[in-house]
Formats: sequence, structure tokens, C-alpha cells
Amino acid sequence: MVARNVRTYQNYIGGAWTDSRNGETIENRNPANPDDLIGLWPRSTPDDMTAAIDAAVAAASGWAGTSALARGAILLRAAALLEVRAEEVATAMTREEGKTLREARGETLRGVAILRYYAGEGAQPIGEVYPSANTRTMLYTMHVPLGVVGVITPWNFPVAIPLWKIAPALLYGNTVVFKPAELTPLTATKLVQILEEAGLPTGVLNMVVGYGDEVGPALTGDPRVTGVSFTGSNRVGRAIQRVVEERGGKAQLELGGKNPVVVLADADLDQAAALTVQGAMMSTGQKCTATSRAIVERAVLAPFTRKVVERVKGLVVGAGADEATTVGPLVSAAQRDRVKEYLDLAREEGVRTLVGGGLLEGPEYHGGHFVQPTVYANVRPDSRLAREEIFGPVVGIIPADDYEEAVTLANGVPFGLAASIFTRDIAKALRFAEDIQAGIVHINGETAGAEPQVPFGGMKESSSYSREQGKAAAQFFTQVKTVYFDEPATSVPAPLPVATDPATIQREASE
Ligand code: UN1
Repeated sequence: MVARNVRTYQNYIGGAWTDSRNGETIENRNPANPDDLIGLWPRSTPDDMTAAIDAAVAAASGWAGTSALARGAILLRAAALLEVRAEEVATAMTREEGKTLREARGETLRGVAILRYYAGEGAQPIGEVYPSANTRTMLYTMHVPLGVVGVITPWNFPVAIPLWKIAPALLYGNTVVFKPAELTPLTATKLVQILEEAGLPTGVLNMVVGYGDEVGPALTGDPRVTGVSFTGSNRVGRAIQRVVEERGGKAQLELGGKNPVVVLADADLDQAAALTVQGAMMSTGQKCTATSRAIVERAVLAPFTRKVVERVKGLVVGAGADEATTVGPLVSAAQRDRVKEYLDLAREEGVRTLVGGGLLEGPEYHGGHFVQPTVYANVRPDSRLAREEIFGPVVGIIPADDYEEAVTLANGVPFGLAASIFTRDIAKALRFAEDIQAGIVHINGETAGAEPQVPFGGMKESSSYSREQGKAAAQFFTQVKTVYFDEPATSVPAPLPVATDPATIQREASE
């Protein structure tokens, strides 16, 4: 369709909104109705990326020299501005990402909470004081900025994930080059506008829009970019890690999941079914924390399965902007094709489809990337369906004889992000928290969700042994400096090692 009055948006480099060097653009279309062209964004080049890094380098020492309280104050203003613009941001998110307005509103308010949390961190200690072997030495640590950091974010949480990286990066004194997903640049643009309006100095935050394979290497390979924080696919994440670590930089990765719920025979089955469906189908299954396996004790397999299927049949698939919709489209044609491969695979593998199993393509779907919420029965634990991340509204039910087998199955995949158990048995719930190989464990809850004040991240292939959010964010976005502070020449330090016998200690104390 020929676009009229379509706006062209820009990169944000060194405090100025600018076109890409080559003038090329990328179309941003509504996944619920691809005729709806939202706007054009720069198809940036490596030179654009390098210009953004130059700007971030130029701003680094000035920003590091401001107080964390002052940086926090800017984040607090950004929180207020985002809250005022929440409906506008949520509407933009639904239009370009596809999730329902209700989910987009929730995510936007989560963004407000993240900004407020990190604003508060600006008043928290930035180091520790230690005793020294030498009683005249003041010995302390300072957590200082890395310098310039790269933030590479996915399209599935276009507000929350950028903010939970950018807010701590800024708060701890780093300058940032932000490469948002090219599928959700409108939300990213609004976030940058808000942070600019909140008072960030020139060059402290820069945004470059483009394809990852075209501009990513200029960011990850630049030795001036000390840290790179990435959320996305395992393939891209591991490649970024290799490049960044090879040149001595620091990489933080949040990758895939294949998150299980374990349903024991004593569980509240209504709760377990409702939260399994919620975990599997919200955001159209496009969360790294989505539930994709339900491992169920045989004693309750039939009633649990019935309840799940009933609930899935009650879901309403449609455009996210329609308030009646409970499941929006997938984000893009490429994601739809990827999910379809798994639906075809299920058919080839002879898995029993309880509900769904196909695309939704009638005229009422306007060519949008819609897929049926799908539940499979008796998925073989060693099949690709049970082991690979699908990133769509698909959940497989896997029977287990007892708790032990359920945990073995739950742990039997390469991923280890989130997991949940439904049970009334406190001892088993506590054992599960010990036994499960997952960075995030829920008891009687859905696998998705992340509060800003606690660490977020996975084990095994899901992450890079680093955690985001909460106090954990400081570990990635700062480095430690240890200071031995001695008096000037007038005093001579006591010899090491320090006295440990009581007589010496008493003598020293009375001196
Ligand atoms: C959530 O479960 O609310 O990309 C957040 C993802 C995760 C974030 C999940 N990094 O889906």
C-alpha cells in the first residue's frame, strides 16, 4: 500500500536527532494489520554507530563526575514524564509490537516503577569500608562506572527491557549507546525523548536504529565500549559475547528459556491451569519467561488438561488495540513463520493437538501475524518441541509419574531461566526451589514476571552468570576500585601481619 504522510524518524546522537548517513530507512508496520505503516526509521550504518560511540565517549567523564543523587533525580523526572505519557506509550507499543493494550499499559507502568527504583538507588552506598591490618589505614572500595556501555534490546518488552538496562547504566555513571530492536523503534524513540526531556546532558544517551547485523559489530567490536548488555536470541547473544570478551570487554546476556510448570497431584488445579495458560499465552508466548512445558503428575493429568483446554478455548485472538482481545498477533511475519515451523513439526511428530495448531488467516485478520493458542498432549520429552524455545503461544503437556520424575524432566533441557511448581506440600515446594535448575523460581505462580528490586536472570544456556535489576545491576554496570588511604609521612605503618595475641592487642590498645 502506498504510504501518505508517513513520518520519518531519526537517530539520537550527541543530543541531536539525525538521519542515517546513507539516508536509507526501515519500515515499521503494525503486526495486527501490516497495511498500517507506522513510520520510517533510519537504516543506520556502522558510521552512524561510531558517531554515537564518539558522542558517548565525549560525555563519559562529565557524566561520571556528576553525583549519583543528581543522576537519580533525572530518572525520577523521567518516571513522572513516562507516567503522564503512559497511555500514548502503551498505544504506540500495541501498534508496533502487537501485545494487548492491557499488557502494554502494564509494561509501561512497570517502566515507571523501574525508573523510580533506580532513582532511589542513587542514594544508596557506592562502596564499603573495611578494617585494615594497619590500624592507621582507611581501607575502602568505590563502585565506579565502566565508561561507555552498549544496550541491545529485543522487541518483546520494548519499554521494560530498555529501561531495566538504561536506567542502572545511567544511574551508576555510564554513558549509553542504545540499539533498540528495529521492530519497535517508536517506543524506543519515546523513551529517549522522555529521558532527554528529563534533563540528560548531551551525549549521555544515544540511540541508533538499524539492523543488528549491519550496525551491531560496530558497537560490540569497539574497544571504547566497555560493557554490552544484550537480551535476545542465543545465537546472537553468544556471538556478541565472543566478540566483546575477546577484546577484553564485559558482556551481559539474557537469552532463551523453555520454562516448565510442575503440577503435583495435590495442587489447586484451577489455579495451576489458569496460571499455566496465562504464563504460556500472554504476550502471545513471546517472553523468554513464558511457560512452554506443563509437567503434570499422572494422577491429575486428565482434569488439569481439561481445565487448560477450556481456558485456552476462551481466549480471544485479535488486534491488541481491541479491548476485547486477550491474545495479540506475533510481532512479525518472520516470527509467525518460525512458530509455524514448530506447528508443522508437531504434526510430523504425531503429537496430539488438543486445541489450536494453526495460523489464523481469514479476511477478518487483515493479513496480521495471528496464530492459534495451542496446547499439545503427550509431548515426548526428548523431542524438539519439548526442548527448543518456540516463542509463540504454544504449551506442551508432559506426564510424569511423581515429583522426582517431574524435576528430572524439568531440568532436562539446556535452558534454565524460570520455573514454577503448583503444590500445597510445603516440603516439596522447598525441595523444588533447591532442585530446579532455574534462575527464577515460582511457587504457585506463573513463570513470567520480574519485579525491579530483585535479580533477574537464568542458569545454563539462559544467561551469562550475570543478573539484571535490583542490586545485581550494579555488579554489571560498575567496576570496583579499592583505596588504601594512609596518613602522610608523619606516621610509619605498623608491620604486617597484624597482632593476634591478646597481650599485644592490649598493649596496642593502650598506646
Ligand atoms: C517478564 O517475564 O515479565 O525477554 C519479563 C524476555 C525477558 C523478560 C521477561 N528478558 O522475555
